[in-house]
Amino acid sequence: MKFMIVAATLAVCLCLSTAAPLTEEVENIVPAAEENYRLITDIEPINYNVSLKPYLLDSDPSEKRFTFDGEAYITIKPKVTTSTLVLHSKNLKYSLREFYAKSKPDVKTTLPAVEPNNVTDIVTYTLTSALVANQEYVLHFVYTGTMDDDMHGFYRSSYTDSKNNTKWLGSTQFQTNHARRAFPSFDEPRFKATFDITLTRHKSMKTYSNTRIVNSTTNGDYVTDRYATTPKMSTYILAFIVSEFNERFNGDFGVIARPEFYKQTEYAFDVGQEILKDLGDYFDIPYYSMGNDKMHMAAIPDFSAGAMENWGLLTYRERALLYDEGSTTLSAQQYIAAVVAHEQAHMWFGDLVTCQWWSYTWLNEGFARYFQYFGTHNVETHYQMDQQFVVDQIQAVMNMDSTVNTNPMSDENTNTPADLSRMFNSISYNKGGTFIRMVKYVMGEENFKNSLREYLKTHQYTNTVPSDLFTVWKKYIPAQFQSYADGLFKSFTEQVGYPVITFNLTTPTTLVISQKRFLLKEGDGADGSLLYTVPITYTTNVENNFNLTTPKLFVTPNDTSVEQTLPQAVSWIVGNVQETGYYRVNYDVKSWHGIHHALLTNNWGGIHELNRAQVVDDLFNLARASVIDYDLALDILAYLKTETNYLPWTAAFNGYNYLVIRLGLDTKNFAVYIRDMTSKAYDFLGFEDKPTDTTLDIYNRAKILSWACKFGKKECITKAQEYFKNLDNKPVPVNIRSAVYCTAMREGTEADFNKLYNKYLTETVATEVTLILNSLGCVKDSKLVSKFFHIIVSDSVRRQDKSAALSSLYSENNENVEPVFDLVAENLDALANSMGGYSSVASVISNIASRFTTAQQETKLKNFNTQNRGKFGSSASTLDSAEKTVKENLDWAEKKLGTFKSHLDKYTTGGSASLSGFTALSMVLFAVLARFLC
Ligand SMILES: *[C@@H]1O[C@H](CO)[C@@H](O)[C@H](O)[C@H]1NC(C)=O
Ligand SMILES: *[C@@H]1O[C@H](CO)[C@@H](O)[C@H](O)[C@H]1NC(C)=O
Ligand SMILES: *[C@@H]1O[C@H](CO)[C@@H](O)[C@H](O)[C@H]1NC(C)=O
Ligand SMILES: *[C@@H]1O[C@H](CO)[C@@H](O)[C@H](O)[C@H]1NC(C)=O
Ligand SMILES: *[C@@H]1O[C@H](CO)[C@@H](O)[C@H](O)[C@H]1NC(C)=O
Ligand SMILES: *[C@@H]1O[C@H](CO)[C@@H](O)[C@H](O)[C@H]1NC(C)=O
Repeated sequence: MKFMIVAATLAVCLCLSTAAPLTEEVENIVPAAEENYRLITDIEPINYNVSLKPYLLDSDPSEKRFTFDGEAYITIKPKVTTSTLVLHSKNLKYSLREFYAKSKPDVKTTLPAVEPNNVTDIVTYTLTSALVANQEYVLHFVYTGTMDDDMHGFYRSSYTDSKNNTKWLGSTQFQTNHARRAFPSFDEPRFKATFDITLTRHKSMKTYSNTRIVNSTTNGDYVTDRYATTPKMSTYILAFIVSEFNERFNGDFGVIARPEFYKQTEYAFDVGQEILKDLGDYFDIPYYSMGNDKMHMAAIPDFSAGAMENWGLLTYRERALLYDEGSTTLSAQQYIAAVVAHEQAHMWFGDLVTCQWWSYTWLNEGFARYFQYFGTHNVETHYQMDQQFVVDQIQAVMNMDSTVNTNPMSDENTNTPADLSRMFNSISYNKGGTFIRMVKYVMGEENFKNSLREYLKTHQYTNTVPSDLFTVWKKYIPAQFQSYADGLFKSFTEQVGYPVITFNLTTPTTLVISQKRFLLKEGDGADGSLLYTVPITYTTNVENNFNLTTPKLFVTPNDTSVEQTLPQAVSWIVGNVQETGYYRVNYDVKSWHGIHHALLTNNWGGIHELNRAQVVDDLFNLARASVIDYDLALDILAYLKTETNYLPWTAAFNGYNYLVIRLGLDTKNFAVYIRDMTSKAYDFLGFEDKPTDTTLDIYNRAKILSWACKFGKKECITKAQEYFKNLDNKPVPVNIRSAVYCTAMREGTEADFNKLYNKYLTETVATEVTLILNSLGCVKDSKLVSKFFHIIVSDSVRRQDKSAALSSLYSENNENVEPVFDLVAENLDALANSMGGYSSVASVISNIASRFTTAQQETKLKNFNTQNRGKFGSSASTLDSAEKTVKENLDWAEKKLGTFKSHLDKYTTGGSASLSGFTALSMVLFAVLARFLC
């Protein structure tokens, strides 16, 4: 499953280029239950033959509406002689349960009518006579199930068509443990089997499943579609859709969506074929050769994740698949290509070769995330996704991974449903992809490709654990690094966290390199003693080559520090070239000044944009964690006044965002400061797309505009309002839409809100719907805040979109944090009902509370928790961690925020003269450079 919460937040940030931060995840830690959630492996399923008939229509018998009839024949083979049969089943009502030996189909034995364990969903059948080892048996079930609206299992979804009729459809989401709601099953990834699916539909509808239809037979108003046998695969990637969708299909590859959206399927159709072909070439296993000779990608109106990699029937949120030339932003278009690449990469990493259990989710998701960037990059090079990986993925996971609320990539402690959801966090995705990229740079691109080919061929149609991958990888690690391979693999996948590597020039030619785990917070209980095996790269002003990504050396847990003698004295050194390694870098103060100086010279001293982004990100976080002084960090960060590249600016906005949140309502001086810091980039980029723009220029413009407008740059606000006023005559240029809409809402009246809200109600392009919805959250007027809150709670906003809309409402304006908390508290039950449960509300509360800045707000949270914790069940622990987070934030602000505030004070009273280190010379240099770049 892809884009879970974190990625969805990211996508919102990207699509909207808002000032919204990458939210730090607050984990919902539920103590592991006693129940054994795992099936015994004595019995293996060989084949499932499942027939389903859903009832979705008005014309269906009313008592059957939103249920389905099911019948399943499961061929099994015991590995040992046993009289215990266990499998999963959830919310299924049986009318027949029996089994027989495959060789004696006439001798049937009835299975006892036992209920599944209500915690683990495991049904245990104790048989009167044992199943004999290595003989095949057939289990036969006739049952009914329900089609709920919770976006899991075989669920229902709906939309309004162009004639204002409500249309119903059925679709599936089985990952991680919901196939058991559609048919009794061995519902764990390690039980691979083949599937023969049969779906019966009303003749007005069509069905889709993983494979091709081999036979359709009509019986009155109903048609039964029988599907070709699937390859051997896990239950969680099975899928079916019953709908009135139509398709754009070339015989092998198709995109399906609501008929009204046919035109919007073209981009995914084209780019999907190219990426699929390219990935097949890269892996040296063409997709169509793997045992499933077709692929459909479907856009589903209600969808819980971002998209899902069902083999041959990939499902997506509409905004992750449907592109409209006139109103989809470049970043939303990029997101479509990237999600397609992610899901398609799963056909190999996930579907063909599957993690043995969710403890190793990263074996699926880390690779999917890696190819989401680098696979897309091979086909759609102009997006520059290879460059975006560092700021989107590495820097986005580093904060969480340096607190106590993290988990190792390979986490043996994975049992309960809460554990399973945890494994779909940014550790499996971002850190997984980061670790894979780091290994690639150790072995080199060609070795890396060959290692993946070997891994896939060796393990196709089976399951793997990390050591299977490492065994293959070790064959491809160059001889000089062999002795570090195990340490590299294990220290980053079995331990939490990552190090800060200190580069200390103790003499002009002596470099001392040492490591220590980076911890973001003092005393939060995280283990600071962990050590890693780390590939080290660096370059200096003398060498000045940011292409040298092969490790120069390793530091290991064995050496507290490593000494290197440089051939000659250097004026600067930069570690972790292109941020190829998963670590932060600190320097002795003199070396920091050397970097600062270089950044102020022509072309930033030749320091690569990824390393400028790294320096910025490291400075913010080393200062936040008290590893270096804020004054030092802020002095160097003043170089940003000369910066025009998206990558360092993205790192900067993420860093500033934390500080802005901590400032609460006291952002007046920051506004002056940030307007000044961004003024050059603002002038350089202008308001509208230019023919010379790179993709990253376009993204940077959206970001710079949104920050400049948000922090009161008059010209920016006036221009944005002009665009908004003329909206009906002249559409706002797509790539600055979010900045324009957001500014219009922040500064606007109720009439402005209504104008945009009406556009939301009538808009037919999913990417634009999402953009508008999240822009509406920029309102600041308290009446409009309340109005939008109630809209979010109502049916006007789909459940899947509620939390992102709420997030914009409390994150776009610091002034809204407490009012939105109050609204949540006042409307608690209604919100829980509309979001599908209290656990979603717990996350909302935790995210709002992470923005609290006063003791009075802390008290408010505590009172709320005391009064309401009973309603939250197991997610009450989220409320507790929210309290802990608030306390940590207030403590931090008390100790550290003063330095930042006085820096801002000095800055605003002293004007730009107080910009220490920013010399007149570099101003001139910048002016020259800016002209050159234009
Ligand atoms: C689950 O089953 C146990 C034991 O049969 C019972 O005590 C408990 O109330 C059940 N829980 C739910 C939520 O039905
Ligand atoms: C669409 O139908 C709903 C009720 O089903 C109705 O309230 C609404 O006014 C209709 N809209 C249009 C544009 O006809
Ligand atoms: C399709 O299935 C029906 C019912 O099982 C069978 O009678 C018919 O022969 C099949 N047709 C083809 C072309 O296989
Ligand atoms: C680094 O690689 C880039 C792209 O391949 C190339 O343009 C540049 O000249 C290289 N720089 C050095 C110092 O080799
Ligand atoms: C680290 O030290 C241990 C024990 O002395 C040794 O077995 C291991 O090979 C060393 N690792 C490296 C990478 O040198
Ligand atoms: C660098 O090394 C010197 C000399 O050993 C030491 O005093 C200083 O604290 C070190 N700096 C850092 C940042 O570790």
